[in-house]
Amino acid sequence: MSQDDKKKRAAEAALEYIEAGMIVGVGTGSTVNHFIDVLATMKGKIEGGVSSSEASTERMKKHGIRVFDLNETGGLSVYVDGADESTKHLHLIKGGGGALTREKIVAGASEKFVCIADDSKLVPYLGKFPLPIEVIPMARSFVARELAKFGGRPVWRDNFVTDNGNVILDVHDMEIMDPVAMENELNKIAGIVTVGIFANRPADVLILGTDTGIQTVE
Ligand code: A5P
Repeated sequence: MSQDDKKKRAAEAALEYIEAGMIVGVGTGSTVNHFIDVLATMKGKIEGGVSSSEASTERMKKHGIRVFDLNETGGLSVYVDGADESTKHLHLIKGGGGALTREKIVAGASEKFVCIADDSKLVPYLGKFPLPIEVIPMARSFVARELAKFGGRPVWRDNFVTDNGNVILDVHDMEIMDPVAMENELNKIAGIVTVGIFANRPADVLILGTDTGIQTVE
């Protein structure tokens, strides 16, 4: 089975967490695109969604799903999003698509974070996937020098500007043995908007699409 089919399996399984009348938090990426497509089959039953990116907003609107501003909804019950890596403790690396800041905000505003992915995303520890960090443009070089002190090798993402007008540094060779501590340490560097480690607010459930079906980690 292809990786994309596994992503689709995980996306379909996430529908189990969606109830009538909900405003659903919606992440970003190819796995979430499948989720938006299946969520559209319930669009008459749900109120709508809060989006974590311009790309997801556009896809939801194309399907006729109403998109709310987070400032008008208050807290959400459920947030569904993908990940670039996850441990069995549900600590994540996110931001491969560059939407990490809004993703972290909507995840933080939600009671339950349902993470959907294909089974290749489950790893023993985080850091093989280069860690995305959103940075204020004028702080780019300073932040890169600070990140080098952590042993990382920051690479400026080419030709990419986030939905918030910032840049992304993808940090290679980071050994993230303690994701909560590392997230806290990196958060102290001035000029960093968001670190792509989701450990202080991890996922609550991870649904993995596999060759044979679904594997759930809680
Ligand atoms: C977007 O910025 C990311 O956090 C995505 O959630 C992550 O990259 C997973 O993407 P895929 O579902 O495309 O693998």
